[in-house]
Amino acid sequence: MPLPQTKSLRRRRFGSEPDFCAEGARIAAELSSADVIDINMGCPMPKIAGNREGASLMLDPKRASRVISAVVAAIDRPVTVKFRKGYDSEHVNCVEFARMCEASGASAICIHGRTREQMYSGLADLDAMAAVVAAVKIPVMVNGDVTDLASAERLLEYTGAGFALVGRATLGNPWLFAGREPSSVEEKLEMLRRQTRYASEVKGERVACVEARKHAAWYLKGVRNAAAWRQKANDICSFSTLDAFCSGVSADCEE
Ligand SMILES: Cc1cc2nc3c(=O)[nH]c(=O)nc-3n(C[C@H](O)[C@H](O)[C@H](O)COP(=O)(O)O)c2cc1C
Repeated sequence: MPLPQTKSLRRRRFGSEPDFCAEGARIAAELSSADVIDINMGCPMPKIAGNREGASLMLDPKRASRVISAVVAAIDRPVTVKFRKGYDSEHVNCVEFARMCEASGASAICIHGRTREQMYSGLADLDAMAAVVAAVKIPVMVNGDVTDLASAERLLEYTGAGFALVGRATLGNPWLFAGREPSSVEEKLEMLRRQTRYASEVKGERVACVEARKHAAWYLKGVRNAAAWRQKANDICSFSTLDAFCSGVSADCEE
């Protein structure tokens, strides 16, 4: 009976079941030339964390350990794990969680210095990240509030970590990695088009263009009449509507 099977599949917690995660990692390794497979145990989104996956795994370190061990055993590439400071202010267990990841076979870890409860608000906890760096021998990546080279250097120096990860500051701003600002609105729009073309090679035109709506909103930061253009970005559904959108923004900025 197809219907009951579909229903029961929908209830499965794929992201917290060791066998499913191992199989997913095997497929990802087979289909890609990725050097590393990362398990995201830091995702705070309700549809993930509310399903006892992502950041909720921090509440169940034994299960998290089984997931990591199963993935490590399934593939011939290094496995890394990303997690948070803890689930909420009552459950801050990043140091124990880091040790568990190391003992379970992770080659490196990344800590985002906020709890799941905080989502993306408040400042990342530098001391929690420093404590994680001190607690394990494997490489640690630290993450939270990096906006430029100076903030990355401060984070690395304070925590003693070897690597810093960049998050929201890169949205609509890939120039961050080059250490400069975009020179014009034209340059931003050209990058939006280029990024969407690249994405379409993997996802197809329609999906890449629908996803370009949110990227457009990020690229429009600081642009004239940004609020109105963000609204209009919701019409992007093909390369031609994306081009028309970019031409409109461009003309508006020239006026
Ligand atoms: C829109 C959005 C999507 C994200 N998607 C992912 C993701 O797929 N995987 C991941 O590990 N982190 C993801 N993150 C979290 C960021 O990588 C990072 O951990 C977080 O934003 C904290 O860093 P920041 O303070 O520098 O932004 C996402 C964050 C945002 C805002």
